[in-house]
Amino acid sequence: MSIAHCNKSEPLNVITPAKIDWQMDDTGNMVPVSGEFGDVYFSHADGLAESRYVFLAHNRLPERLACLAPKQCFTIAELGFGTGLNLLATWLLWRQLRETHPQLATARLHFITTEKFPIPLADLTHILALWGQRAPELVALIAPLLAAYPPLIAGCHRLNFFDDNLTVDMWFGDAAESLAKLALDTSIKPTPCVNAWFLDGFAPSCNSTLWAEDIFTQIERLSCPNTTAATYSSAGVVKRGLREHGFEINKVKGFGRKNQMLTAVMTDAVCLSETNSQSKPANSTYNTPAHSNLKPDHSIVIGAGVSGLLTAWALANRGIKVTLLDKSAPLAGASGNPRALLAPKMTPIHHVDEHLHTMGYLYSSRLYRVLNEIAAQQNIAAILEPTGALDLLIKANIGTAQIADYPDEMATTLSLTQAQDASGLKTQDVSDNLYLPQSGLVNPQALKETILTHPLIHFQQLAVNNISEMESHICVEGYDQNQQVISINADNVVVCAAFESHQLDKRIFDCRKIRGQLSWFTPTAKQLASLPKIPLKYSGYCTLFTAQTGDGQLNDVIECSPQFLLGASFIRNDTSTDIRDEEHQISRDKLVTAIPELASVVPTDMSLWQGRAGIRTQTPDYHPIVGSLSNSERIWVMSAMGAKGYAIAPLCAEALVDMMLGSFTPLSTAMLARLSPNRTRLQTPLT
Ligand SMILES: Cc1cc2nc3c(=O)[nH]c(=O)nc-3n(C[C@H](O)[C@H](O)[C@H](O)COP(=O)(O)OP(=O)(O)OC[C@H]3O[C@@H](n4cnc5c(N)ncnc54)[C@H](O)[C@@H]3O)c2cc1C
Ligand SMILES: C[S@@+](CC[C@H](N)C(=O)[O-])C[C@H]1O[C@@H](n2cnc3c(N)ncnc32)[C@H](O)[C@@H]1O
Repeated sequence: MSIAHCNKSEPLNVITPAKIDWQMDDTGNMVPVSGEFGDVYFSHADGLAESRYVFLAHNRLPERLACLAPKQCFTIAELGFGTGLNLLATWLLWRQLRETHPQLATARLHFITTEKFPIPLADLTHILALWGQRAPELVALIAPLLAAYPPLIAGCHRLNFFDDNLTVDMWFGDAAESLAKLALDTSIKPTPCVNAWFLDGFAPSCNSTLWAEDIFTQIERLSCPNTTAATYSSAGVVKRGLREHGFEINKVKGFGRKNQMLTAVMTDAVCLSETNSQSKPANSTYNTPAHSNLKPDHSIVIGAGVSGLLTAWALANRGIKVTLLDKSAPLAGASGNPRALLAPKMTPIHHVDEHLHTMGYLYSSRLYRVLNEIAAQQNIAAILEPTGALDLLIKANIGTAQIADYPDEMATTLSLTQAQDASGLKTQDVSDNLYLPQSGLVNPQALKETILTHPLIHFQQLAVNNISEMESHICVEGYDQNQQVISINADNVVVCAAFESHQLDKRIFDCRKIRGQLSWFTPTAKQLASLPKIPLKYSGYCTLFTAQTGDGQLNDVIECSPQFLLGASFIRNDTSTDIRDEEHQISRDKLVTAIPELASVVPTDMSLWQGRAGIRTQTPDYHPIVGSLSNSERIWVMSAMGAKGYAIAPLCAEALVDMMLGSFTPLSTAMLARLSPNRTRLQTPLT
């Protein structure tokens, strides 16, 4: 191993992609080497065998994973994602165990990994293609991993592989900083804890950062009694670091030609007293996740808009039975538009890792693509139509210079000709633009249909008027469609009732209510030829879409026919949902003011236009409300999605459900504080 450490001072939060060099290994295969550090990503003898020996066997994963109870979650944390070989080896083991152990059907594996210099997708594709040839058993995992691999942007990227009950959180950025962001709120029970560590930095001699004091401090903070760690290294700094941070270490024979490697078990006394556990000798049974008795079997979700649907989905995928309630029907509220545009509010890249809108958008775009596959298997229309979107930067908080800081696969500026070709606009100057390749149109009806096929989700119509919290359960009461009083008990409840949430529990902030109306019409063939060919954002947004079978159940659209959608109005403190001609006019005016050439295309006679009005729910600081209510163990809330529910609700739902079940969230401690229902900013009512 050679030793060229380059101490680059890259701007904060801007990711430096790995530079890959190639060498021939002991068996004649070409293997990647880090151009930054001059070290190998995995053993020259046999990387996969090394991974299985060092990290899987010496964390005793085959035994520990096999004996997980239903619904238990096992958390692995890795330092250095690199090529993902450790993940693939673990994933394959997990898949094999789930095939032979039926009780693992609802158990879950959470793999948290950190990477400061992520490998660009093209290089990773090449590296993993070679692994696919060497180890054909990995092939079935490589394709979904590559499909989910995020753009190289700092922050936590959550990848869910639903068929395998596997969640992967990729924290791009410096590992010490990423680990420090992992939220550990010991006031909420159960509390998350890492069960096994893969310490896989480059050798301490060529990269000290992954073996530094701040790393060991974080490892200690995030571990609990009998957490294990394994590493191929037996360097003194590693032994000392682990010992001084609560681990008992054990030297064992290393892989291949290596004499020694280390295994370790957390036996730290402070840690033991905090969690009130009994000490176990290092060589006794290794820990399985604690507190499983506090986890719910049955949750109620009130409100079946995008917030409630995604919360139900996240719970059900962790094996929890969900009763999903709505006073009228799923998507009866703001979420029931014919189409929603999936697009982020952008931010300068230096803030991106802590920017809910960007991280939420990226998660949603991955999730909807996965849900597309599930929908297709059930003959349901696509949830996300991957159209891309073009923002004309008329009302944007970022300019082309800042867009250039982003990787092109996330955001870029098209040349004038490209933008004109993509949009079909002819005379408009569209040279200042933001093109979002992963953006698209969400079909709410298809999303609803797909989510409601989950066998653990049961929808029931109920207008809830009371929630009572007892010591052992909650009781939710309301009126069904026949005006009968119904009460349902469950372990806990999540209130997703948007602006009406406050009526269900006064501790939930009484948010700002902003009415909005979307408009659409069926264009003539002549109009169709001149309307924009891609969703456009300006001070409003517009798009063509083809209504699918099923759309007509939700809105007055002509199925299988092109529709042109434009919106939307913003009317404060108005909660009525009648359709208004003057708001059709507002949306038309916004469009033709921004793009004058469309004045002659979009009809002035709006008598045949359709519309739908909904109420946006917004806090004074614009952040949603996600978390548990003060002085409550069983009442949770997810609300105030503002004008971007389809971009941010899916990630918020993941974070909320992780908190409910004692898993690590994909959002940092600071972000969770910003979203907390009990934050200071929400202590003062709106005037
Ligand atoms: C005109 C318009 C255009 C928009 N366009 C976009 C877009 O393009 N992209 C995007 O991402 N976002 C868009 N949004 C925002 C997005 O629609 C919202 O952020 C999102 O719908 C909020 O979802 P929700 O589930 O929190 O609320 P809702 O969808 O309003 O759901 C709340 C549900 O709670 C139910 N409920 C209330 N009280 C009770 C009770 N007591 N008992 C039982 N059930 C109850 C209601 O019936 C309702 O179904 C738009 C919003 C509007 C108004
Ligand atoms: C030995 S490789 C990991 C191999 C990987 N586990 C695999 O399965 O391919 C070490 C990794 O640590 C990453 N790394 C180095 N310093 C880091 C830091 N400070 N924070 C996070 N990752 C870091 C490197 O970029 C490299 O990908």
